[in-house]
Amino acid sequence: MPRSAGRPAPARRAVAILNQKGGVGKTTVTLGLAAAASAAGRRVLVMDLDPQASCTWVLGNEPVDGDVVVADVLAGAPLDEAIVAAGWDDAISLVPGSAATADAVDAAGTERLRTALAALPDDAYDAILVDCPPTLGGATRSALTAARHALIVVDPSALGLRGIGSLADAVDGVWEGDNPDLDLCGVVVNRVPAVSSEAERRIDELGRIVGRSTIWRPTVPQRVIVNQAIGERRPIHAYGSRAADVTHAFDDLWKRLRRTVK
Ligand SMILES: Nc1ncnc2c1ncn2[C@@H]1O[C@H](COP(=O)(O)OP(=O)(O)OP(=O)(O)O)[C@@H](O)[C@H]1O
Ligand SMILES: [Mg+2]
Repeated sequence: MPRSAGRPAPARRAVAILNQKGGVGKTTVTLGLAAAASAAGRRVLVMDLDPQASCTWVLGNEPVDGDVVVADVLAGAPLDEAIVAAGWDDAISLVPGSAATADAVDAAGTERLRTALAALPDDAYDAILVDCPPTLGGATRSALTAARHALIVVDPSALGLRGIGSLADAVDGVWEGDNPDLDLCGVVVNRVPAVSSEAERRIDELGRIVGRSTIWRPTVPQRVIVNQAIGERRPIHAYGSRAADVTHAFDDLWKRLRRTVK
């Protein structure tokens, strides 16, 4: 479908990180990639489109009344007024989320978000990571309309795979309707137990559904330290050798993401 006249292409380096299933690790993967980018000396913008605003909280930011948040950008505030340095690290910029996002997401807000992201200079950030809520409507549709890439996060369980079809259909729906530039760039498998033939079977099954090359490697191991890092609101890279396998996974996934958005 041709892009309607005058409508800008979506931000080339923006990636919507999504799954309608809750708790699969969308926020964990967004933050793991941001931490890996920062460790590699790169700059990222994290946009928190989830009204739960977990990503904002874990990054050490807690907007107060009067702060410009993503809901304000959806309502027409300039994007640069909403961008702040993340509490973790100056290399990570953040557009904070808040409960107000749920009411601010509509067609006009989505177009404003898309236009604002598209207007950022290509070299402003090495990637723009958009953390989505566990839904296929509202904010997730906005993210898919405003971003050039969609990255699905799944957990390797039977229930984790059940929604993949409708998820791929939702990406296709936005691609056909609102964003012909949208590309389903990959699937990150998170929470993979150290030894589990069940998880291996599910990853094989996922490969048959989405295509083996769509699954990004490595997968992200399930580790208590990930949960601890989220609870302590610190980057996984701050835990040194205790989190080595997880940080290496995110470092490799970041390299893959960088090649994708280049
Ligand atoms: N690889 C992992 N190992 C151990 N715990 C993990 C891992 N990934 C995520 N978790 C834990 O699972 C919980 C849910 O993760 P997270 O919040 O990232 O999921 P989500 O998909 O963003 O959830 P929501 O749909 O509510 O936004 C968190 O407590 C997190 O610490
Ligand atoms: Mg989340």
